[in-house]
Amino acid sequence: MLTREQALEAVGSVTAPYSADAVAVRDVVVKDRQVSMTVLTASEDIRPSLETALREALARAGAETVHCRFRALEGGAGAAAAPQGQAGGKARPAAANGPVQGHGAGIESPLLAAGSGVQFIAVASGKGGVGKSTVTVNLAVALAHKGKRVGIIDADIYGFSVPDMMGIETRPQIVNERVIPIERFGVKVMSMGFFVEDNSPIVWRGPMLGKMLRNFFAEIEWGELDYLLLDLPPGTGDVALDVHQIIPQSKEIIVTTPHATAAFVAARAGAMAIKTEHEIIGVVENMSYYKCSKCGEPEYIFGRGGGARLAESLHAELLAQIPLGQPDNHISEPDFSPSVYKADTETGAIYLDIAEQVIQKCSR
Ligand SMILES: Nc1ncnc2c1ncn2[C@@H]1O[C@H](COP(=O)(O)OP(=O)(O)OP(=O)(O)O)[C@@H](O)[C@H]1O
Ligand SMILES: [Mg+2]
Repeated sequence: MLTREQALEAVGSVTAPYSADAVAVRDVVVKDRQVSMTVLTASEDIRPSLETALREALARAGAETVHCRFRALEGGAGAAAAPQGQAGGKARPAAANGPVQGHGAGIESPLLAAGSGVQFIAVASGKGGVGKSTVTVNLAVALAHKGKRVGIIDADIYGFSVPDMMGIETRPQIVNERVIPIERFGVKVMSMGFFVEDNSPIVWRGPMLGKMLRNFFAEIEWGELDYLLLDLPPGTGDVALDVHQIIPQSKEIIVTTPHATAAFVAARAGAMAIKTEHEIIGVVENMSYYKCSKCGEPEYIFGRGGGARLAESLHAELLAQIPLGQPDNHISEPDFSPSVYKADTETGAIYLDIAEQVIQKCSR
């Protein structure tokens, strides 16, 4: 097993001779002995030798594959190879790219700037409890597994559940008055849950929710991202409208169960996406069937066909049908999370397949 700490140590041994103005490494993701990272260099000449040295050091540490994304290090960003938010990790100075006026509702965030290259995907449904948060978390982890730089905004500000689902127990650090998202399974996470004591209820009214969502862009040090997933609260309320205002370019995934009523209600969320001109990437049917542990045959406990009908009515694709079943994770595991399916499980593989479809659709 190669841990992220071991990978960071190997990376550090290679980058140590360079000054922070010459080389910086970030977004180091380790999954099943596969390592990916972003390498910033001030000069392009050193990249081949640096890549060889990184590959060799990581192979010695136990890596099977190493993927380096090279980018220009402009103006000596001083980024650190140490993991963000951990002791000894220097955070990047606030907005290394310089604050950029986003085109969404006047919020200053490099993520929202035209040409930032970030794909925003809101995960929506009409009904509660159909699995939006589960889908958001697992799709994010699957995208990270495929080497993408991924963030999650838990936009369910009252009913946040993402930190708990991912097994996050730490709170974000604040560096240079910027909040550093928590990184878990290679995904950067921001949630209202980080700022609430003892799971106490939040009693803010509508406008405050929108303000919080804006803060999640303006005041968070996201670094560079390829995908930012938004876990929306159920329904088509204020937050969905806020998302539209802040990120008009956002795409959507609609989650439903196979039950006819759930699909009917989810159609309203889909209709809202169409009205706000958000492209619907596709429909995910969750809790589609239960696979009998004895005979292996699927049993359609909640009915059949809701996802396919919804996809048809929205002129979108049915991306996947996810079976019933909680992840078989044990609390004694060092990386325990209640809701993240491991990549080598049946459901984990379905999420990797959804991630691949999302990557294909977003790169067109
Ligand atoms: N495929 C599945 N099999 C078994 N349990 C599941 C599955 N998907 C989700 N769940 C469970 O169902 C419950 C609801 O899921 P989740 O919280 O993801 O739904 P949600 O749509 O985000 O809910 P809310 O509307 O409250 O935000 C959770 O306890 C989750 O663990
Ligand atoms: Mg939820």
